[in-house]
Amino acid sequence: MKNMCAAVCALAALCAAVRCGAAQTDVERRVEETLSRLTFEQKLGQLWQFSGGHPSEAASSDRSKGALDPKFLEAVGAGRYGSVIGKRGVSNYNAIQRAAMEGVGIPLLIGHDMIHSATTTYPIPLAMACAWDESLWERTASAMAVESLALGCNWTFTPMLDVALDARWGRIAEGGGCEPLVTGLMGAAMIRGFQGSDMADGLHIAACAKHYVSYGASFGGRDYNAVEMSDSTLRDVYLPPFKMAVDAGVATVMPAFHSFNGVPCSMNSYLLRDILRGEFGFDGMTISDWAAVRELIRHGVAADKADAAVLALNGGIDMEMVSDCYVETLKSAVERGRVTMKTIDDAVRNILRVKFRLGLFDRPTLDADALAKAIDPAANRALARECARKSCVLLKNDGALPLKKGVKVALLGDLSASDWQMLGCWSTRDLSNFENATLLDGLKADGVDVNYVEAYTLTGRVDLAAVEAAALAADVVVAAFGDYWENSGEGNSSAILELKGGQMKVAEKVKSLGKPLVAVVFGGRPMAFLGLAKTADALVMAWNPGGCGGWGIADVMTGLAEPWGRLTVDMPYATGTCPLYYSRTTTGRPAAITAEHPFGKRYTSCYNDAPFVALYPFGYGLTYTSVKYSGEKVAVEGGEVVFSADVANTGAREANELVQVYVRDEVARIVRPRRELKGFKRVALRAGETKHVEIRVPVSSFGYTLNGVRAVEPGWFTAWVAPDSDSGRRLRFELSAADVASR
Ligand code: BGC
Repeated sequence: MKNMCAAVCALAALCAAVRCGAAQTDVERRVEETLSRLTFEQKLGQLWQFSGGHPSEAASSDRSKGALDPKFLEAVGAGRYGSVIGKRGVSNYNAIQRAAMEGVGIPLLIGHDMIHSATTTYPIPLAMACAWDESLWERTASAMAVESLALGCNWTFTPMLDVALDARWGRIAEGGGCEPLVTGLMGAAMIRGFQGSDMADGLHIAACAKHYVSYGASFGGRDYNAVEMSDSTLRDVYLPPFKMAVDAGVATVMPAFHSFNGVPCSMNSYLLRDILRGEFGFDGMTISDWAAVRELIRHGVAADKADAAVLALNGGIDMEMVSDCYVETLKSAVERGRVTMKTIDDAVRNILRVKFRLGLFDRPTLDADALAKAIDPAANRALARECARKSCVLLKNDGALPLKKGVKVALLGDLSASDWQMLGCWSTRDLSNFENATLLDGLKADGVDVNYVEAYTLTGRVDLAAVEAAALAADVVVAAFGDYWENSGEGNSSAILELKGGQMKVAEKVKSLGKPLVAVVFGGRPMAFLGLAKTADALVMAWNPGGCGGWGIADVMTGLAEPWGRLTVDMPYATGTCPLYYSRTTTGRPAAITAEHPFGKRYTSCYNDAPFVALYPFGYGLTYTSVKYSGEKVAVEGGEVVFSADVANTGAREANELVQVYVRDEVARIVRPRRELKGFKRVALRAGETKHVEIRVPVSSFGYTLNGVRAVEPGWFTAWVAPDSDSGRRLRFELSAADVASR
């Protein structure tokens, strides 16, 4: 029977592969047919994403209002654009696609950044990563896909797969944090959610893996700045999430703005042609970032637009976003032999392939009613609330949380009652579409006796008398700290991560009155809040939690939901210690924090005025119960290493423990990270319950790259099965030559 099942499964897989192969052949045939009937100008049109053509009332907040300019539609029909950027609503989407189909006969990709928000705003990606939950990531992207279509977009520039080690870099908000594995898993789950199993089913859209690659390593954490790195680091840290995205079938890839080892990513054929297409086998399309082709001139590698177009196209950029170097100059480039017709045709092929896979030729227009039916706003809001619950991280708790029933709460700070400030750097920024819950709303909804007094703004006025009056009239003070969301995201690098304005004065005032202080920190990046962490009785990292954020955070604060989030970045003691990441490499003079040397000893690798370690490390997050690890073990079994532990909930409430596995290669030919995450598992534990947890990791995961070759070397490894990247009992295992060979 077992054999028969296996045979049936194998047959089904074969049939699926044949179907898939046939569909692929059909796509290629249609691509060639389409290509063969295009004029040279129409081919160039396919290579351009135009940023104009917005409705007449585009200045209003609702970009779907108003009619499109007939001249724009005429240009669409003539095949002047392969794509346009921005949401214009379904009827304008349909007008564009009709004009395109009646004219050149090729529908347009209509793209927008649905990063953590289409209509419903979910927490920012950095917060979402802290949920460590693939199903949540996938469900959210899938909900955003339908909402995107209903806004008139069939393409999103998401997910951002930039591993970000430096909290000064504002765009750390847009990705999964400092860990390639978490970033890659989140990206792949989002791609599955956006694209579904069939992108052409009318409910999904094309995704875009960006910013390829190493953008998060820009010097000094300054946006758009240059990157220099070794091939080993590129391949072991920055490329893996992109490889996972390609394996997940991502339709498009966007190179980053910066220069990589002196060559801008927007013309970097090593990255785009050799690695992405050659090694990873990517056959979708690439699109430059915003005007990044023209920026090759500012980089100082192109003399003019013509030069920029030649470098970018030959380097591997299929479609140019916004700037018009391709359409304006490629004709003469072909005439002068600077680019070949084949290079242009291949770029058009890549674009057409995505359009066919997306089903645009067979279903160019959208059905607004059907989409409206497919969207359940209440379910999406419930999902956004679940995301907010699961992405906030409880960093400190001396017992002030969960809020006890019946306590009188004084709620302070402008962020506590601002629905705008819940949103985050890539929200739709439209408050009218749905209800945005503030922390005040959330606490009220959960039945808390709450008295809101603004008393201070984050960076402006501080009324300490108002703080005192409100605090004295309450049992507990809940106060909002951190930063405004407008200070993170693109173009928002910060040199100061310490809390600004009079925030610490507020915390100290509350403390001086003997009232418990629950600090809720909002913001799009790790911050250096040592003073607050010392002063507050409880500290919740709420990030930018999205439109339903207030509800979600309040659910955790009141204990309606158990804390679930764990950091995917390290929280620094001071800005000057950034970049700070748990997976830093070992040194010849390792430092240690001791009572005698709280910053580390002189002549070891440390600072003389701040700890070089994290205040709260990667993987960290508290629950309302206590969890104990025992019997940790590691065994090598065939092609896998099996890590295990008995995990016991020794407290009185439910636990959702995130069991993490870290490994260090003890002796290698190049220095290796002090710890690297290799796996994790979420375990639900009732009060008093113990579970045996096993995490299996393929032997192939323990390799590294040297001289361009990734290999696993036999030898000893240290391992930890632990609740975060700084704790756990040391285990050891050995991979023999036979283990390495058998993988
Ligand atoms: C950003 C991209 C984004 C693009 C289009 C650029 O400035 O770097 O992440 O996808 O704009 O909005």
